[in-house]
Amino acid sequence: MSNTVRDPRKILVTSALPSANGSIHLGHMLEYVQTDIWVRFQKSRGQQCHYVCADDAHGTAIMLRAEQEGISPEALIDRVSREHQNDFATFGVSFDNYHSTHAEENRYFSELIYTRLREKGHIATRDIEQMYDPLKGIFLADRFIKGTCPKCHADGQYGDNCEACGTIYTPAELINPVSAISGATPEVRSSTHYFFKLPDFADFLQGWINDGHVQPSIRNKLMEWFESGFNEWDISRDAPYFGFEIPDAPGKFFYVWLDAPIGYLASFKNLCEREGLNFDEYWQEGSDAEVYHFIGKDIVYFHALFWPAMLRGANLRTPTAINCHGFVTVNGAKMSKSRGTFIKASTYAEQLNPEYLRYYFAAKLTAGIDDLDLNLDDFAQRVNADLVGKVVNIASRCAGFVKKLGDSKLSAACAEPEMLARFVAAGDEIADHYEAREFSRAMRCIMTLADEANTYIADAEPWVLAKQEGKQQQVLDICSVGINLFRQLMVYLAPVVPAMAEGARAFMKLDSLDWDSRQQPLLNHSIAKFKPLMTRVENDRIVAMIDASKEDLVEEQKLKETPRGPLADNPIAEQINVDDFAKLDLRVVRIVKAEYVEGADKLLQLTLDLGGETRNVFAGIRSAYAPEALEGRLTVMVANLAPRKMRFGVSEGMVLAAGGGSVENDGIYLLSPDSGAEPGQRVS
Ligand code: MSP
Ligand code: ZN
Repeated sequence: MSNTVRDPRKILVTSALPSANGSIHLGHMLEYVQTDIWVRFQKSRGQQCHYVCADDAHGTAIMLRAEQEGISPEALIDRVSREHQNDFATFGVSFDNYHSTHAEENRYFSELIYTRLREKGHIATRDIEQMYDPLKGIFLADRFIKGTCPKCHADGQYGDNCEACGTIYTPAELINPVSAISGATPEVRSSTHYFFKLPDFADFLQGWINDGHVQPSIRNKLMEWFESGFNEWDISRDAPYFGFEIPDAPGKFFYVWLDAPIGYLASFKNLCEREGLNFDEYWQEGSDAEVYHFIGKDIVYFHALFWPAMLRGANLRTPTAINCHGFVTVNGAKMSKSRGTFIKASTYAEQLNPEYLRYYFAAKLTAGIDDLDLNLDDFAQRVNADLVGKVVNIASRCAGFVKKLGDSKLSAACAEPEMLARFVAAGDEIADHYEAREFSRAMRCIMTLADEANTYIADAEPWVLAKQEGKQQQVLDICSVGINLFRQLMVYLAPVVPAMAEGARAFMKLDSLDWDSRQQPLLNHSIAKFKPLMTRVENDRIVAMIDASKEDLVEEQKLKETPRGPLADNPIAEQINVDDFAKLDLRVVRIVKAEYVEGADKLLQLTLDLGGETRNVFAGIRSAYAPEALEGRLTVMVANLAPRKMRFGVSEGMVLAAGGGSVENDGIYLLSPDSGAEPGQRVS
């Protein structure tokens, strides 16, 4: 390393914006952990690094889910965003800003980029035919159409491919297609769509892809796509749609994938406003800042083709690199809900320390796009052997002697300067691995050092020496070396296990564990009382997590299958005919008096005026109304109900109120006629 002080690099980092249409699971977490480790490493090295993200809030799926839950899309995305941010915080994923694509900054940039593209002729319009749900009044994406597979005749297959035989088809080929939303038979309808003319950027993209902005394996994949040629990209959706309306195109909305990556700009802009950063310094053409997008391999197309082309067409800089990772499998297979290996982040965190997973991911992550298997036996074994058995062990073996023999103060001189120097020097190689996203190599270097430190202590046997006369200083020296080595390891591990590192920092009474701080050996330095920094992974916790994941599935199914709301808990009663109904004599009444009933915490006693006649009625509405709020108002009563003798008196009828609603709303609502109705009028 040279000694000249360089300006810090200006780095903007993003992770893919998680969809507001679901919970964060351990597959997602790989990405956020990978990105967070890289960001923490950059910050440890003193770079000016900003990490932004947001919820991806738009689209049909979110609109429909909100509708199903009986809430507004805004309320849904707010709730989900809070859940997501909670999960990220629990896993130590430390964004500098977390925003939403449903935000004004995003509307601004979406319109800006779109209009710049349009001005340069990169937008086309064309009528296309699509399946339409006449009952719901919406166009149906393929996955919202179900029917019988034309090939193998399996029922209930989605509109794009058959899960039974794997055939790929168009929804029009399905036998007996129905809308998965309403069950209606879809019709074909035509409407105007807006297209981004991606082929205009073919030459630019070819150059860009070959210029080191994507990993080699991704480059090869993209070149295959290139050879088959690519089409214009449909960026519009018809109303109703939860998103941003396209300028000068009433009733047309930006497709969610148009404004999703623009959400990176929006979130960063939001951060710039808050922290006084210069947005243009990062995003104008020719900027010397670095921009990295971390993504999974399923969304390469959007990030390595559409996104750079959009930026280019809008005169903004393109990303420095797209850093793509593979998919998480659990115990060697795709995450499966029925096996309990589709594990939500929150379900994991209820049982296990998130830093175990951060370490395990780091120990297996490379810069490539291979899938990463979370083998739960290997996970427990690896974390216990490395973090607990190797790293924490060094400190726990040395701390007691330092306290006892040095009164918690480390020796004034280092007994093993060469070894310590080697540990410090190793930081350069480890840093190179981090920088290159070869985290598994970094972890291997660190654990090799940890082995060395343990061997040193084991060979020196301070616990044997401690029992001998006059060896106290020697024991303190050995253990002081041990603590210094431990400190080096914690500097290197801090990006991976920040909470454990924070515990270690406090234990060693250090101001920071930043990369450069390691150059200064700890001599004559006081340390605090040792507390265990990490405990072993317990197997029954893993079992509990799998069981809980199976329960998550059951809960989810319930939500999907039962309509939620009043009807779910209170189905429509047995059918009656008009004569049955005519037997009820319903009348408008005025509540002239309302009083509490002593000894009855649910009842109010009402005096009702029927337009000449007065009735005494006990009504179970006390939880919803104060008596004085009722006096004078009109409502409806059953006037021909047989009088009922109650503990407090005789009830001569019944007032009508809505109740027995959904879980979220179990209120009571007294019916009232529109104004103008008179007491005594018949209700029919
Ligand atoms: N909303 C889009 C991204 C828009 S970015 C402008 C999306 N959301 S997602 O919630 O489905 O996925 C978020 C990220 O998690 C993606 O990068 C995706 O590849 C990643 N992963 C989702 N499941 C995963 C695994 N099982 N394993 C590893 N990464 C996974 O895509
Ligand atoms: Zn089939």
